[in-house]
Amino acid sequence: MRRPLNRRLRAAAVLIAAAVAAPLAVPSPAAADGVVIGGSPVQVSDSPWAVALASRDRFGGTRAGQFCGGAVVAPTIVLTAAHCLSMEVLGAPLETVDDLHVIAGRNDLKAAGGREVAVRDVWVNEEYDSFTNAGDLAILTLDKPLPADHVIPMAPAGDRAYDAGTAARVYGWGDTTGQGDYARSLRAARVRVLSDAACEAAYPGNADGTYLRGVMLCAGEMEGGRDACQGDSGGPLVARGRLIGLVSWGSGCGQAGSPGVYTRISEVVARFTAP
Ligand code: ARG
Repeated sequence: MRRPLNRRLRAAAVLIAAAVAAPLAVPSPAAADGVVIGGSPVQVSDSPWAVALASRDRFGGTRAGQFCGGAVVAPTIVLTAAHCLSMEVLGAPLETVDDLHVIAGRNDLKAAGGREVAVRDVWVNEEYDSFTNAGDLAILTLDKPLPADHVIPMAPAGDRAYDAGTAARVYGWGDTTGQGDYARSLRAARVRVLSDAACEAAYPGNADGTYLRGVMLCAGEMEGGRDACQGDSGGPLVARGRLIGLVSWGSGCGQAGSPGVYTRISEVVARFTAP
């Protein structure tokens, strides 16, 4: 039985408020070579906050039903992209998907290990705009808590992790070539946070979306080559040890002049921690 939306939301907001990073300089983990396009394999034990969103009913069992990513921001709270739960992606109304779960602590989707935890409640941002892609956020409440060490702090507005030029990494089990070659094991790609001006210039508004500063951020390499891709959506973009974005959209994958666009986490923090 689903609880009323506002109660679920309030419960999630309390947990999210607790998960916001203290405004301290946290040393960023040593950047190894990187998901994704131009990425390389990583150990999920080093990035336990990167989880797979899965449904075997909807996506079959070959890759444990993985279809999107997510980020653990409290033991029972996972952030993902609103569009991951759309009819377009699921091929069925969300309400009819009974086996939605997250897979945590498992590198290889074809192997056992880690844990599969059922999603108890789903809140999808009703303001998500599928034309611009603004507000691409959903909050999942898990049936059972994940270990506390799976949680990644969220970077609030003003955090230096959002500064243009900051090195970041994006994680996922998505397409590694742009041709539908889905990864079996978790990968990460090194990208850089780009300035709002560069993101606006790349996406003034086209069929894929419109870059909107304040609610989105974009990252990549202007020459292309490293990026998230299909199947990575909802997954974490991390800089300075903190969550700054969720994979949302882009034109193609890893193309020069078309960086990846992310849901800006500072907006999520601001929205859920407002008095
Ligand atoms: N919408 C895609 C998904 O559902 C993610 C696209 C990200 N694209 C990019 N070039 N960064 O998986």
